[in-house]
Amino acid sequence: METIKIKKSGPLHGSIRVSGAKNAILPILAATLLTEDECIIHEIPQLEDVFVMYELLENFGAKIEKIDENSVKIQTKKIVSCTAPYDLITKMRASFLVMGSLLSRTKNAMISMPGGCAIGSRPIDLHLKGFSSLNVNIKSNNGFIEASTEELKGNTIYLDFPSVGATENIMMAACLADGITILENSAEEPEIVDLANFINSMGGKIEGAGTGTIIITGVKKLHATEYTVIPDRIEAGTYMIAALVTGGKLSIENLNVNHVQSVIAKLKEVGADITEKGNSITVTSKGQLKACDIKTLPYPGFPTDMQAQFMTLLSMSEGVSIINETIFENRFMHVNELRRLGAKIKIEANSAIIDGPITLSGAHVKATDLRAGASLILAGLVSEGETIISDVYHIKRGYSNIVEKLKKVGANIGYFNI
Ligand code: EPZ
Repeated sequence: METIKIKKSGPLHGSIRVSGAKNAILPILAATLLTEDECIIHEIPQLEDVFVMYELLENFGAKIEKIDENSVKIQTKKIVSCTAPYDLITKMRASFLVMGSLLSRTKNAMISMPGGCAIGSRPIDLHLKGFSSLNVNIKSNNGFIEASTEELKGNTIYLDFPSVGATENIMMAACLADGITILENSAEEPEIVDLANFINSMGGKIEGAGTGTIIITGVKKLHATEYTVIPDRIEAGTYMIAALVTGGKLSIENLNVNHVQSVIAKLKEVGADITEKGNSITVTSKGQLKACDIKTLPYPGFPTDMQAQFMTLLSMSEGVSIINETIFENRFMHVNELRRLGAKIKIEANSAIIDGPITLSGAHVKATDLRAGASLILAGLVSEGETIISDVYHIKRGYSNIVEKLKKVGANIGYFNI
């Protein structure tokens, strides 16, 4: 079985270039189905999730041609199937994002219901409510959602929760609809803005992305485009924490500094010294890190995808910190694994109370989900002795070349088969 083996590493020094954003490229790949023309996309991260999305698009008839390591040409001249099979959907929940595009392109979609995952039940009710508002008939049987419409019609939709996925799916279903769709209480994440910019680059008419009200004016057709995906703000935040927990100094390159302001604010609160310069950030610690409290919120609040990584940082910080996870109902799977390394964490309802600083000692631990795996890598860098992380496929889903990137700045890390 492939694992990641990490030995206690000294202070990390050097620079790390951030790859394209996983949570931007996945909806953008789904949106390539909106046109029969060719889309050229750059800065695609090399992730398992991206490869699963390629497989899904090819299942619908897409031709995907690699231009170089991080660029592809994608063209779906003809949709040959409107069904997304169970085995592909269960590999990656974000596959459900193809529903909006399939409806826009063919007025039909038959998608296996995505299961839950380690961090929560991950319902899709807001997606389906949005589609129904756009004149789509929804049926569910045999584990599939069957959606069809004579004609997609614009409407005003209010999201009970600013769901990222629902906002994206509804945008893709509304961009070729007849009339105008006003999406209220929409998610404001940078990845939403990236998707809207991508669709607009194809001739779409989406305004207000990045705010809580998005206005989508349906157009007749969308055309070819060439587009570069935004950098991954969560990958960037993860490496900022790697600099701090090892007492090193890292320059994180190729990121949009505006996308990480809530993370920077919290890192400064624990005692990080952060300098921003253009599209790079240099992070170093000013000595003993201090406890702080975190509450995860929809953007621009503190991102839930940085919660697990921060838990490792707060285990190294002096004092008692409280993390309140408000987005997912079960996103503390990493706590038991961090405890195996010696972390002192108590859970009360959806809050974690972390006592630090603690000297961690290496052990065999398991990545329970993508960001939990990242928190264990960070912990392994500072744990006495050796840490072995299994179920590394979770980590490969969302971090391209994380072992190579950390090794380059001095981490004692490598893949290891046991
Ligand atoms: C996206 O997931 C991200 N994934 C997640 O990143 C991220 O944690 C999440 O947004 C929140 O920021 C991708 O973009 C591929 P949501 P998504 O719909 O769209 C509830 C990572 O680590 N909800 O905003 O699934 C849901 O249960 C991953 O990179 C409903 O109730 O998140 C959750 O509690 C993990 N009904 C909350 O909303 C719905 O129909 C947020 O979910 C949809 C969601």
